[in-house]
Amino acid sequence: MENKKFKRTTVTSALPYANGPVHIGHLAGVYVPADIYVRYLRLKGEEVLFIGGSDEHGVPVTIRAKKEGCTPQDVVDRYHGIIKNAFADFGISFDVYSRTTSKTHHQLASDFFKTLYENGKFIEMESEQYYDEGAKQFLSDRNIKGQCPRCHAEDAYGDQCEKCGSTLSPDELINPVNVLTGNPLVKKPTKHWYLPLNDHQPWLEEWILQGHKEWRSNVYGQCKSWLDAGLKPRAVTRDLEWGIPVPVEGAEGKVLYVWFDAPIGYISNTKELCDAHPEKGSWETWWKDPETRLVHFIGKDNIVFHCIVFPAMLKAEGSYILPDNVPGNEFLNLEGDKISTSRNWAVWLHEYLVDFPGKQDVLRYVLTANAPETKDNDFTWKDFQARNNNELVAVYGNFVNRALQLTQKYYDGVVPAPGELTEYDKETLAEFKDVKEKVERLLDNFKFRDAQKEAMNLARIGNKYIADCEPWKVIKTDPERVKTIIYISLQLTANLAIAFEPFLPFSSEKLRGMLNMPTFEWASLGNTDILPAGHRLAAPSLLFEKIEDSVIEAQVQKLLDTKKANEDADYKANPIKPTIAFEDFEKLDIRVGTVLECERVPKMKKLLKFKIADGLQDRTIVSGIAEHYQPEELVGKQVLFIANLAPRQFKNGLVSEGMILSAENFDGSLAVTSLLKEVKPGSEVK
Ligand code: 2FM
Ligand code: ZN
Repeated sequence: MENKKFKRTTVTSALPYANGPVHIGHLAGVYVPADIYVRYLRLKGEEVLFIGGSDEHGVPVTIRAKKEGCTPQDVVDRYHGIIKNAFADFGISFDVYSRTTSKTHHQLASDFFKTLYENGKFIEMESEQYYDEGAKQFLSDRNIKGQCPRCHAEDAYGDQCEKCGSTLSPDELINPVNVLTGNPLVKKPTKHWYLPLNDHQPWLEEWILQGHKEWRSNVYGQCKSWLDAGLKPRAVTRDLEWGIPVPVEGAEGKVLYVWFDAPIGYISNTKELCDAHPEKGSWETWWKDPETRLVHFIGKDNIVFHCIVFPAMLKAEGSYILPDNVPGNEFLNLEGDKISTSRNWAVWLHEYLVDFPGKQDVLRYVLTANAPETKDNDFTWKDFQARNNNELVAVYGNFVNRALQLTQKYYDGVVPAPGELTEYDKETLAEFKDVKEKVERLLDNFKFRDAQKEAMNLARIGNKYIADCEPWKVIKTDPERVKTIIYISLQLTANLAIAFEPFLPFSSEKLRGMLNMPTFEWASLGNTDILPAGHRLAAPSLLFEKIEDSVIEAQVQKLLDTKKANEDADYKANPIKPTIAFEDFEKLDIRVGTVLECERVPKMKKLLKFKIADGLQDRTIVSGIAEHYQPEELVGKQVLFIANLAPRQFKNGLVSEGMILSAENFDGSLAVTSLLKEVKPGSEVK
């Protein structure tokens, strides 16, 4: 730990909503970095608790329940289990993974609210909110939909338009209705309790802007812009049935706002753990002792809640510590598009494990290598394959395999005693001597990508060393020398097992098994005598395996199928134009023409020039379909065209004597119309 004033660390990771399974975006943004950090602290022998759990209140849960025709409790029971198992499968090593519907949490969150209420830390205010008179209920932002004021998509939500991504407030929606009933809404006054963040502004400014300049720039920057804009009171209660009842008289039918109770969930889950395991100490030590360091791992959409709102709650309560750091990540996209649960645009963890059994570490590796630490990043299956094949297999796995196989072959699996070191040996050893310091500095600063790169660098050093030394050749001329080469290679291998332990725990465990190294010390990282001469290794096997193109293609196809299904679901034809008289239609002379010639028009990349047989004489028609057809595809085909359209002259002097009819697909692509049967050119279309 950098700062010696702390004795222990409480690490929290955002509580995911239990209204759906978790996907790679969750893992990359929050849980893998938090897990790496916690494993690292544990390896260093520090006191640490890793707190997780499901966020089970809030409107998204109720919406899911309505859609599925079950109760909110059914929804959270199902997804809490799925999420908890997925995290366990990926080795996310929580000390506790509980839930916000637990009794402990209801009690603690309720008491927390009461303390603030009784100490006058809230203000009460009445405001006008949207109300559905039919359903007799106030509506949350998510339960209101209407037309987006920006892109005019129908079905934009009261908090966001999913089509154009704009953040909205319900007041901005055109013709707002209740998502569930479709009823129009009226405004009605309702009373709520607010946390007066404006009163907290001065100390928050000092604490963050002056006191925490070391926070990641994206986190610091977001805090600064909230503070610069000036904080306003925030409602911490809602008119809803699902949630923790507001423990105050006159608050019937109201619950705590999910963002009020969820972060308290970190505390409740710690309490649950410590109550069940007294050896962990008192939960209060982990939350109230100034010698405890509190670190929140979150995604960027959670920054304001963890850096401003929750600290204000903790400060208002008065007996809690504040976070020392809030490593917030940006977002991970999938194949260029934003991950979306509702559009099934995601790689779900439970599905990944069905398709890639035993390959948890491959995903952990790729997500860390591509971690969205400073900017949004993209996950692509091609990159996943490349990182597996070119890095895990070709660099790490290859080196380890060579070192272990050669030990088997030449020394029957026993670590040989080294001879005198050459200059090159010494240089190689010097190269990885400071790896511990480097990895620690990076991890202490939450730079997981770079830290993992340093670990991989060890394998690169090893590969180069073994390739340069060519023990398979030297064995014939100088067998003594090979003992030193293999000894050094094995020390590097042991270093790799340690260095990768926080990042790739499954592979490190497997590698330690092969090295017959059940116990090990983080402190030995960088040492060159971890495995003593005479130590017997276990039988080697491959650490990673190549992923074939066909496997990746199947994943890409799965996403293409999802994309197609979404497009089909989104598709709606344009409204029909105003009615016309039959005489108006008769004015159009639509004919069949046979394409005699078709060619591109120089310098006009959209145009194709046609020579069309129309049964009377040949005519020239210019059509803007060059981006949709190759000229040769159309020669000999029959097309429909408007024969009596006034000729149109193009800039380059070309004249079009008519217009070929095409249909415009939903995505803007064009399809030329043609006939089901061949007819004579010039036949009329009626
Ligand atoms: O954004 C989310 O998924 C929230 N459920 C995170 C809550 S974090 C904490 F406050 F519990
Ligand atoms: Zn929009």
